[in-house]
Amino acid sequence: MSDFTAIVLAAGKGTRMRSQLPKVLHPICGKPMILWPIEAARAAGAREIVVVQAPRSPLASVLPPYVKVAIQADSDGTGGAVKAALEHIDPSGASSLLLVLSGDVPLVDAPSIADLLRAREAAQADAVLASAVLDDPAGYGRIVRDTTGSLAKIVETKLSGDATPAELAITEVNAGIYVFQERALEGALARLRRDNAQGELYLTDALQTIGASNGCVVVHRLPREELMLGVNDRVQLAQISAIAQRAICERHMLAGVTIRDPANTVIDAQVQIGEDAYIEPGVQLLGATTVGANAIVGAHTVAIDSHIGAGAKVLASSLHGARVMEGAEVGPFAYLRPGAALHPGAKAGTFVEIKNANIGAGAKVPHLSYIGDADVGERSNLGAGTITANYDGDAKHRTIIGADVHGGVHSSLVAPVKVGDEAYTGAGSVITKDVPKGALGIARARQVNLDGYASRKRRKSRPS
Ligand code: UD1
Ligand code: MG
Repeated sequence: MSDFTAIVLAAGKGTRMRSQLPKVLHPICGKPMILWPIEAARAAGAREIVVVQAPRSPLASVLPPYVKVAIQADSDGTGGAVKAALEHIDPSGASSLLLVLSGDVPLVDAPSIADLLRAREAAQADAVLASAVLDDPAGYGRIVRDTTGSLAKIVETKLSGDATPAELAITEVNAGIYVFQERALEGALARLRRDNAQGELYLTDALQTIGASNGCVVVHRLPREELMLGVNDRVQLAQISAIAQRAICERHMLAGVTIRDPANTVIDAQVQIGEDAYIEPGVQLLGATTVGANAIVGAHTVAIDSHIGAGAKVLASSLHGARVMEGAEVGPFAYLRPGAALHPGAKAGTFVEIKNANIGAGAKVPHLSYIGDADVGERSNLGAGTITANYDGDAKHRTIIGADVHGGVHSSLVAPVKVGDEAYTGAGSVITKDVPKGALGIARARQVNLDGYASRKRRKSRPS
């Protein structure tokens, strides 16, 4: 494998996105766009990765620690960006091969990079650029070949003025992925000029310059065109996200996950899923979510940064920062918020909201409840409509419920309060004092029956 340094260009303005957020920070399947080419370069074996960013860019917050950052002081084009990167590459120690990737060409993968490096090696070329033939080449630089089939030049098409109508009809485009011999690139960059439609230093002109000075430039057609699609606007962002999403679903299916309707399933790049998990239509598994083997994730469940354990069953529910352990059951229509933990075999049923609370192994909160800032012991069963009153207007307080507790329906537990092991609460109680182990806590008005009430009322309302 060749020894090479990677440069990832990410200092452009991204004006076509019409966004406050830098283009390369827009997420693709939950991962900032810029991390896709960076990870591809790393997987392909780059000895060093230099990311070119604009001054005061918020990019640094997402960059992994193993990348170096170069600042491009003026946004003077892709050629200027590579120049800025070269200042950070130590000519003595560094390898002489440079892989240049565009931060907005996110689907490039390690095999495609290896392919390009092999093509350079085979031809002992000074530069190799990846090309693709697209049905709709709009917006890309076109590959203009001479009569011998070699690269004559690349013409830009972002603004009118650079390309002729005949050149615009060319469907072979520049992918924005290159390998250069460092010395050849440096010489060519020094000769770039800004006399073009965008008034910028086009990296693409460097290839023509290398070729014109008897350098060897190879155009390498990528076998999988879709991997070189660029994101310049939000339509392309959606198209590329769909391609990435399909690949993620296929990876999981090949690893033994059943996804009943992959076209209607959203799974972020980082998500892990165990064998024989079953994912129903309309599910969204986002962020750092993990799903264990044999789990069932029912239709329209949304899980963000959550864990669904092996054999657990989650139906039509919303999970955010929650842990559902082995064999636990959730929903339909439950809402598990940050810090909710359902221990093995526990249940949170219909219209149940749980936040910052442990529901012990085998414990059940089956219907219409809010459990917040609480610990519920093993095997306890809280009746329908159980509510923890965890907030007194100033601070949150904890409710501690022991093991094997039977909570009556419609119990309000006014925290801080404790219900001991094996205790009961009476239906409709407002529990403000601790209930000792094994006791029945009832806190409700006694019922009064007024005999004959209905007939008295009828007599009263009869017209006189
Ligand atoms: C570029 C290529 C085009 C190619 C296309 C592939 C040039 C001149 N054109 O066009 O031939 O078909 O990519 O997707 O290179 N950037 C900087 N600093 C700058 C300008 C851009 O770092 O001053 C970065 C951007 O952040 C982006 C990348 O370079 O990641 C490409 O820039 P962009 O403006 O998107 O170029 P394209 O018009 O797509
Ligand atoms: Mg682009």
